Amino acid sequence: MNRTFIIIKPDAVRNKYSGKIIDRIESEGFRILGLRLLQLSDSQAKEFYAVHKERPFYNDLCKFMTSGPVMVAALQADNAVQKWRDLIGATDPAEAAANTIRKLYAESKEANAVHGSDSDDNAQQEIAFFFKDSDLIG
Ligand code: CMP
Repeated sequence: MNRTFIIIKPDAVRNKYSGKIIDRIESEGFRILGLRLLQLSDSQAKEFYAVHKERPFYNDLCKFMTSGPVMVAALQADNAVQKWRDLIGATDPAEAAANTIRKLYAESKEANAVHGSDSDDNAQQEIAFFFKDSDLIG
């Protein structure tokens, strides 16, 4: 069993899609180990996305990610990272496959409904950014 870290982003929370996305998480067979609703601070968004700080979209992305509440979750499944990435689809919803979460619920490449870790190592780091071990179901 592996873990991944996900965010239901401000656009999806604002558009009242979080329940539908959580339903999909459960129906696709992920186990939810931890789940929080929170509003990212400017410094949290900048630190979380620091890997993108040289990219032209960095400032707008941080502004968007602090524009409203988000849900963060740690999920468990076999091959959790890839399984979640397959389920959410391409970064740009216009390029996302039919029935993926981004195809169904994202607004744009920036406001793309959900985040998912891109590797097991990053999943561990991203989970630790938001959850203490004792916050997670064992
Ligand atoms: P995410 O999976 O959270 O990781 C980085 C985020 O940057 C990505 O989803 C998008 O929200 C955003 N992003 C990536 N590429 C672009 C782009 N070209 N323009 C705007 N936002 C982008």
